[in-house]
Amino acid sequence: MAIRLGDIAPDFSAQTTEGPINFHEWLGDSWGLLFSHPADYTPVCTTELGRTAQLKSEFEKRNVKVLAVSVDGLESHKGWMQDINETQNTTVNFPIIADEDRKVATLYDMIHPNANDTLTVRSVFVIGPDKKVKLTLTYPASTGRNFQEILRVIDSLQLTANYSIATPADWKEGDDVVVSPAIATEDIPAKFPKGHKVIKPYLRTTPQPNK
Ligand code: BEZ
Repeated sequence: MAIRLGDIAPDFSAQTTEGPINFHEWLGDSWGLLFSHPADYTPVCTTELGRTAQLKSEFEKRNVKVLAVSVDGLESHKGWMQDINETQNTTVNFPIIADEDRKVATLYDMIHPNANDTLTVRSVFVIGPDKKVKLTLTYPASTGRNFQEILRVIDSLQLTANYSIATPADWKEGDDVVVSPAIATEDIPAKFPKGHKVIKPYLRTTPQPNK
Protein backbone atom coordinates (compact mmCIF):
# COMPACT_ATOMS: atom_id res chain seq x y z
CA MET A 1 0.00 0.00 0.00
CA ALA A 2 1.30 3.41 -0.93
CA ILE A 3 2.64 5.63 1.83
CA ARG A 4 0.86 8.96 2.00
CA LEU A 5 1.74 12.31 3.51
CA GLY A 6 0.85 12.37 7.19
CA ASP A 7 1.21 8.59 7.61
CA ILE A 8 3.55 7.32 10.30
CA ALA A 9 6.70 6.23 8.45
CA PRO A 10 6.75 2.42 8.70
CA ASP A 11 9.29 1.23 11.25
CA PHE A 12 11.80 -1.53 10.45
CA SER A 13 15.04 -3.11 11.56
CA ALA A 14 17.81 -3.47 9.00
CA GLN A 15 21.49 -4.14 8.47
CA THR A 16 23.39 -1.11 7.26
CA THR A 17 26.95 -0.21 6.40
CA GLU A 18 27.15 1.36 9.89
CA GLY A 19 25.67 -1.65 11.72
CA PRO A 20 22.14 -2.80 12.53
CA ILE A 21 19.50 -0.13 13.10
CA ASN A 22 15.92 0.17 14.18
CA PHE A 23 14.62 3.02 12.03
CA HIS A 24 12.50 4.93 14.55
CA GLU A 25 15.08 4.54 17.32
CA TRP A 26 17.84 5.61 14.95
CA LEU A 27 15.86 8.72 13.96
CA GLY A 28 15.36 9.76 17.57
CA ASP A 29 14.15 13.38 17.60
CA SER A 30 15.72 14.22 14.23
CA TRP A 31 14.18 14.71 10.85
CA GLY A 32 14.96 11.87 8.44
CA LEU A 33 15.70 11.47 4.75
CA LEU A 34 15.19 7.91 3.49
CA PHE A 35 16.04 7.45 -0.18
CA SER A 36 16.37 4.46 -2.47
CA HIS A 37 18.75 3.62 -5.30
CA PRO A 38 18.16 1.09 -8.05
CA ALA A 39 21.44 -0.77 -7.59
CA ASP A 40 25.08 -0.61 -6.50
CA TYR A 41 27.84 0.11 -9.03
CA THR A 42 25.56 2.15 -11.27
CA PRO A 43 26.58 5.56 -12.59
CA VAL A 44 23.72 7.85 -11.57
CA CYS A 45 23.50 6.32 -8.08
CA THR A 46 27.24 6.84 -7.66
CA THR A 47 26.84 10.56 -8.29
CA GLU A 48 23.77 10.80 -6.05
CA LEU A 49 25.40 9.17 -3.04
CA GLY A 50 28.52 11.26 -3.55
CA ARG A 51 26.46 14.46 -3.70
CA THR A 52 24.59 13.51 -0.54
CA ALA A 53 27.86 12.89 1.28
CA GLN A 54 29.20 16.28 0.14
CA LEU A 55 26.08 17.94 1.56
CA LYS A 56 26.42 16.36 5.02
CA SER A 57 26.86 19.70 6.80
CA GLU A 58 23.71 21.04 5.10
CA PHE A 59 21.67 18.09 6.36
CA GLU A 60 23.20 18.41 9.82
CA LYS A 61 22.38 22.14 9.94
CA ARG A 62 18.75 21.17 9.42
CA ASN A 63 18.89 18.31 11.96
CA VAL A 64 18.25 15.72 9.22
CA LYS A 65 19.63 12.18 9.44
CA VAL A 66 20.24 10.57 6.06
CA LEU A 67 19.66 6.89 5.28
CA ALA A 68 20.07 5.29 1.86
CA VAL A 69 18.67 1.95 0.76
CA SER A 70 19.44 -0.35 -2.10
CA VAL A 71 18.66 -3.98 -2.72
CA ASP A 72 22.27 -5.19 -2.75
CA GLY A 73 24.21 -6.71 0.14
CA LEU A 74 26.63 -5.24 2.67
CA GLU A 75 29.83 -6.42 0.97
CA SER A 76 28.66 -4.94 -2.32
CA HIS A 77 27.78 -1.64 -0.61
CA LYS A 78 31.17 -1.46 1.08
CA GLY A 79 33.09 -2.06 -2.15
CA TRP A 80 30.94 0.45 -4.01
CA MET A 81 31.44 3.09 -1.29
CA GLN A 82 35.16 3.04 -2.08
CA ASP A 83 34.36 3.85 -5.70
CA ILE A 84 31.99 6.64 -4.63
CA ASN A 85 34.65 8.13 -2.37
CA GLU A 86 37.25 7.94 -5.10
CA THR A 87 35.19 9.24 -8.01
CA GLN A 88 33.10 11.87 -6.18
CA ASN A 89 35.95 13.22 -4.00
CA THR A 90 34.09 12.61 -0.77
CA THR A 91 33.59 10.09 2.02
CA VAL A 92 30.22 8.40 2.30
CA ASN A 93 29.17 9.51 5.77
CA PHE A 94 25.70 8.02 6.23
CA PRO A 95 24.45 4.43 6.45
CA ILE A 96 23.27 2.44 3.43
CA ILE A 97 20.74 -0.31 4.13
CA ALA A 98 21.53 -3.75 2.71
CA ASP A 99 18.05 -4.68 1.56
CA GLU A 100 18.72 -7.94 -0.26
CA ASP A 101 15.38 -9.41 0.83
CA ARG A 102 13.63 -6.17 -0.30
CA LYS A 103 11.96 -5.81 3.08
CA VAL A 104 12.38 -2.04 3.26
CA ALA A 105 11.81 -1.58 -0.47
CA THR A 106 8.50 -3.45 -0.19
CA LEU A 107 7.44 -1.71 3.03
CA TYR A 108 7.96 1.68 1.35
CA ASP A 109 6.56 0.62 -2.06
CA MET A 110 9.87 1.43 -3.74
CA ILE A 111 9.57 -1.26 -6.41
CA HIS A 112 7.27 -0.23 -9.23
CA PRO A 113 6.85 -3.41 -11.29
CA ASN A 114 5.80 -1.64 -14.47
CA ALA A 115 9.07 0.29 -14.37
CA ASN A 116 11.27 -2.60 -13.20
CA ASP A 117 10.38 -5.91 -11.51
CA THR A 118 13.27 -6.04 -9.08
CA LEU A 119 15.10 -2.74 -8.80
CA THR A 120 13.80 0.15 -6.72
CA VAL A 121 12.87 3.44 -8.30
CA ARG A 122 14.48 6.58 -6.85
CA SER A 123 12.17 7.21 -3.90
CA VAL A 124 12.58 10.00 -1.37
CA PHE A 125 10.81 10.18 1.98
CA VAL A 126 11.28 13.10 4.35
CA ILE A 127 10.14 12.22 7.84
CA GLY A 128 9.48 14.70 10.64
CA PRO A 129 10.50 14.37 14.29
CA ASP A 130 6.93 13.11 14.92
CA LYS A 131 7.80 10.16 12.58
CA LYS A 132 5.20 11.32 10.08
CA VAL A 133 5.89 11.40 6.35
CA LYS A 134 6.22 15.03 5.22
CA LEU A 135 7.32 14.56 1.61
CA THR A 136 7.43 11.79 -0.96
CA LEU A 137 9.16 12.00 -4.34
CA THR A 138 9.56 9.34 -7.02
CA TYR A 139 12.09 9.60 -9.84
CA PRO A 140 12.83 7.03 -12.52
CA ALA A 141 16.19 5.23 -12.54
CA SER A 142 17.37 7.32 -15.47
CA THR A 143 17.00 10.70 -13.72
CA GLY A 144 19.29 11.68 -10.87
CA ARG A 145 17.73 13.75 -8.13
CA ASN A 146 18.46 17.41 -7.39
CA PHE A 147 19.70 17.47 -3.80
CA GLN A 148 19.52 21.26 -3.61
CA GLU A 149 15.79 20.86 -4.25
CA ILE A 150 15.55 18.31 -1.46
CA LEU A 151 17.26 20.79 0.91
CA ARG A 152 14.94 23.55 -0.31
CA VAL A 153 11.86 21.46 0.43
CA ILE A 154 13.21 20.60 3.88
CA ASP A 155 13.65 24.34 4.53
CA SER A 156 10.04 24.88 3.54
CA LEU A 157 8.79 21.93 5.62
CA GLN A 158 10.65 23.13 8.70
CA LEU A 159 9.49 26.72 8.27
CA THR A 160 5.85 25.87 7.62
CA ALA A 161 5.87 23.51 10.63
CA ASN A 162 6.58 26.52 12.86
CA TYR A 163 4.59 29.39 11.34
CA SER A 164 1.13 29.82 9.80
CA ILE A 165 2.57 30.28 6.35
CA ALA A 166 3.18 28.46 3.07
CA THR A 167 5.99 28.92 0.57
CA PRO A 168 5.18 30.01 -2.99
CA ALA A 169 6.47 28.65 -6.32
CA ASP A 170 10.26 28.57 -6.55
CA TRP A 171 10.58 29.90 -2.99
CA LYS A 172 14.00 29.73 -1.46
CA GLU A 173 15.38 30.58 1.97
CA GLY A 174 15.06 34.34 2.57
CA ASP A 175 12.26 35.02 0.05
CA ASP A 176 8.85 36.33 1.07
CA VAL A 177 6.30 33.72 2.10
CA VAL A 178 2.52 33.40 1.79
CA VAL A 179 0.33 33.91 4.85
CA SER A 180 -1.92 30.93 5.53
CA PRO A 181 -5.53 31.38 4.35
CA ALA A 182 -6.56 30.47 7.93
CA ILE A 183 -5.25 33.85 9.17
CA ALA A 184 -7.68 36.76 8.76
CA THR A 185 -6.06 39.80 7.10
CA GLU A 186 -6.74 41.97 10.17
CA ASP A 187 -4.81 39.49 12.35
CA ILE A 188 -1.69 39.51 10.16
CA PRO A 189 0.12 42.48 11.80
CA ALA A 190 0.07 40.84 15.24
CA LYS A 191 1.38 37.57 13.87
CA PHE A 192 3.77 38.92 11.25
CA PRO A 193 5.06 42.29 12.52
CA LYS A 194 7.65 42.63 9.73
CA GLY A 195 4.87 43.80 7.42
CA HIS A 196 2.71 42.25 4.75
CA LYS A 197 1.24 42.87 1.31
CA VAL A 198 -2.34 42.11 0.29
CA ILE A 199 -2.11 41.25 -3.42
CA LYS A 200 -5.58 39.67 -3.43
CA PRO A 201 -7.76 38.93 -0.38
CA TYR A 202 -6.56 35.32 -0.61
CA LEU A 203 -2.93 36.11 -1.53
CA ARG A 204 -1.06 37.86 1.26
CA THR A 205 2.72 37.83 1.56
CA THR A 206 5.11 38.64 4.38
CA PRO A 207 8.88 38.53 4.83
CA GLN A 208 10.21 35.16 6.01
CA PRO A 209 9.36 35.34 9.72
CA ASN A 210 12.50 33.71 11.15
CA LYS A 211 15.03 35.84 9.23
C1 BEZ B 1 22.16 4.44 -12.54
O1 BEZ B 1 22.24 4.66 -11.34
O2 BEZ B 1 22.93 4.97 -13.31
C2 BEZ B 1 21.09 3.56 -13.10
C3 BEZ B 1 20.57 2.53 -12.35
C4 BEZ B 1 19.61 1.71 -12.90
C5 BEZ B 1 19.14 1.95 -14.17
C6 BEZ B 1 19.63 3.02 -14.91
C7 BEZ B 1 20.61 3.85 -14.37
